[in-house]
Amino acid sequence: MTPEPITDAEITRLRADTPGCSTVAHLNNAGASLMPAPVWDAVRTHLESELTYGGYEAAADAAPAIEDTYAALAELIGAGADEIAIAENATRAWDMAFYGVDMRSGDRILTSHAEYISQHLALLQVAHRTGATVEVIPDDEHGQVSIEALSAAMDERVRVVSLVHVPTFGGLVNPAAEVGRIVRQHPRALYFLDACQSAGQLPLDVGEIGCDVLSAPGRKFLRGPRGTGFLYVRRERLSDITPPFLDGRGVDWTAANDYRVHDTARRFETWDTFVAGRIGLGVAARYALEIGVERIAARVTGLAEELRALLTEIDGVTVRDTGQVRCAIVTCTVDGVAPQAVAAAARTQRINVNTIPASDARLSFDPRGIAEVVRSSVHYFTSREELERFAGVVRDLAR
Ligand SMILES: Cc1ncc(COP(=O)(O)O)c(C=O)c1O
Repeated sequence: MTPEPITDAEITRLRADTPGCSTVAHLNNAGASLMPAPVWDAVRTHLESELTYGGYEAAADAAPAIEDTYAALAELIGAGADEIAIAENATRAWDMAFYGVDMRSGDRILTSHAEYISQHLALLQVAHRTGATVEVIPDDEHGQVSIEALSAAMDERVRVVSLVHVPTFGGLVNPAAEVGRIVRQHPRALYFLDACQSAGQLPLDVGEIGCDVLSAPGRKFLRGPRGTGFLYVRRERLSDITPPFLDGRGVDWTAANDYRVHDTARRFETWDTFVAGRIGLGVAARYALEIGVERIAARVTGLAEELRALLTEIDGVTVRDTGQVRCAIVTCTVDGVAPQAVAAAARTQRINVNTIPASDARLSFDPRGIAEVVRSSVHYFTSREELERFAGVVRDLAR
């Protein structure tokens, strides 16, 4: 069913609720989005409470709000609150599960060309330590992971399949649910889904996707505070993944020489944490749920297509996004102009975009001969006038 579009009146209200919209044209939502006022209020209010009453006391008073963050994140991805752990960013969330997998010599780790730098480094490190292998599944003709190649590669030695839903370097949306259907046929294989760039911009349902692990940060399309992230681990898989570090938060010290790891995903958490950020993360998830993630997806996908069309019309500009399905991230190169020069020129006009070098995207950019791209990323509060302004900066440089 097609979702009700976000109306112009709503956009006006959502922009008014976003203080940053009055200062910048923020096309760096894939880096860190602009917090909406309720998120900022929640963070600030809790910090003030710490200032006034003390950190532990403020946390005790805020217990219902902290608890609601688990419920809101669970609702966002169709999980149970017991399957959610909160972390300081997405990489550490993912690491806590990945480094907890019992990997053996001869095991196989399958990944794709969309893999994120930090995760690929972790795959290599664990493979070097254990004698497992890392294999990169080829892309299909659209530039998304090949379902046929993945299906052919699966066997009982596959321990982990690591997929990035939306890469850091382009508008591609990988077919996460199709991957899930294949991995599910191999009970020993764990399916790790990196939802860093999809959480908050695309609907996510872990039941439909079939992933065992999902990780995401708060600061990107979810519009939460920096320094927050979360991890989902499927209930049935929790006993299969032992936290690589133990912390009093997720473990009971039952006797001088004994301990018991908790049954829930909180086994992956640390005791001390950015409590104000946790609360803000929950408020951000509720904010997205209230708008409706299906509606957000429709709006950002449409705006990104409009931006691609504007950029494609400019001589010397090449849009670099691949994939059959595309999302809010738009990447391009401009003949004879360094991507960083484009970002710097945009910044002087109060337009925020980012650049992604090949050193962050080896598996995708090296084979395609790309050294660096300009990455712009819209959100639902982006206006058409902001897209025109950014295209104008690119047009002037391309001349
Ligand atoms: C696809 C993808 N995965 C993982 C990460 C890492 O997230 P974090 O910086 O929260 O650890 C990013 C960050 O840009 C990303 O884009």
